This record gives sequence, structure tokens and C-alpha cells, in this order.
Amino acid sequence: MTDAFVIAVDGPGGAGKGELTRRLAMRLGFALLDSGAIYRVLAYAARKAGLALFDEDSLVEEAKVLNLSFEAQDDGVHVMLNGEDVSSEIRSERTAEGASRVAALPRVREALLQRQRDFCMPPGLVADGRDMGTVVFPKADLKIFLDASPEERARRRVLQLTQAGREAVFELVLKEIEERDARDRNRPVAPLKPAEDAVLIDSTHLNIDEVLEKALELVRSKGIKV
Ligand code: C5P
Repeated sequence: MTDAFVIAVDGPGGAGKGELTRRLAMRLGFALLDSGAIYRVLAYAARKAGLALFDEDSLVEEAKVLNLSFEAQDDGVHVMLNGEDVSSEIRSERTAEGASRVAALPRVREALLQRQRDFCMPPGLVADGRDMGTVVFPKADLKIFLDASPEERARRRVLQLTQAGREAVFELVLKEIEERDARDRNRPVAPLKPAEDAVLIDSTHLNIDEVLEKALELVRSKGIKV
């Protein structure tokens, strides 16, 4: 690994990792890795190619040739697949569910490992995912596990969907969140769990500014001036 300062931010979907990582990366001038987007793009590309989401051999081949890039634009980071902007397509519940299925396959994870490590560069990286602190960057300088109750995560997701003009039923969203959590936590390879040296932040009763402040406090405690 390079002499970059690595911050691993892990936790379940909807705990606020995306927003925290984005703000931390901007504030610190660090690179950003949205590892969930990689699994989402793979699931999306696999469906488009007509692959079954349990066909590990074909998914590994797809993962190896996946032509994926992240482009910073005025309104945020866009995810490109073969030059096509798939940012909104990969945010659907269907793709999230597909992502958590392909992500449960050990050889698929292995095939995507180096691609994720390549994001690490000086002065630093903020990496968002499920196994950033346990598998991808086990020597990360700071490991944060960001959690929130399933009900609060479902409430936030419903708000996000309705603000985007989409319909959302709380009970259904909660059920999807609980199913995805169970799959991510119970898989044999790289399950969602805090690294032994991770600091837990529970965002159930905190807003994003409060979460950011707690995270910055941890960054300062590691000797980084911010
Ligand atoms: O974080 P996001 O919701 O975009 O992730 C989508 C899915 O990708 C997760 O539910 C999880 O199954 C998988 N994932 C993973 N390891 C990561 C990031 C995401 O298994 N590091």
C-alpha cells in the first residue's frame, strides 16, 4: 500500500455512509471509493448481459472485464459503464438486491479486490462499503463502523424516494432493508461486521453534521489537522 492515509467507513445500507464519505473526502482532499457502486454496476451489467446472478464463473469473467469508471461532475460523482452514465439505474432497489447477491460470491469479491485497492493514493482515501476495514484495507489508519436502526434507515430511504417523486411503502422498504442486511451479515465471505479496531458511530439519533463532527474528531485524534 502507498503512504496514503486510509479511512474505512463500513456499515449497513442507509446508515449514512455515502454522505459521510463524500463530506470527509471533500473536507480532507482525499480520493473516494464507493465500493457498493462497483457491486451494483456488476449486477446491472450482468442482468443486461442475461447472466444468472448465481452463475459465479460468468460473473467472475464479467467482473474482470467490467469497464467501469467514476466521473466527478458539478452535481456529484457519476458512475459510467462502457462510457454510459448508469448512476440513476444502479440506485434502484432491484439493483441493490442484485448487488447483494453477486457480492455474496467469494470469487466475484476476489476478482474485484485489486480494482478497489487501486483507489488508494496519497494524500489519502475514504472508502465506503461493508468490508473496507476487514478485508480490502485491513491496515486502514482509521476504521469507522456507521450503524443506525433498521427502522430509521427505512424512514430515511422512504423520505429519499418520495422526495425523488417515487412511491414508497414504509413496511416494504423496511422488509427489503432487513433482507439485504441478513444476506450481507450472514454470508461466509467478507460478512458485514465491524473490524476489531473499528470505532462505532450510531447515527440513529444524529444528523449528518453531527456524524461528520464525530468522524472529524476521530481523524484529528490520528494526528491529521482538519
Ligand atoms: O452500499 P451499497 O448499498 O451501494 O451496496 C450494495 C450492496 O453491495 C450491499 O448490500 C452489499 O451486499 C454489497 N457490498 C459488499 N461489499 C462492499 C460494498 C457493497 O458486499 N464493500
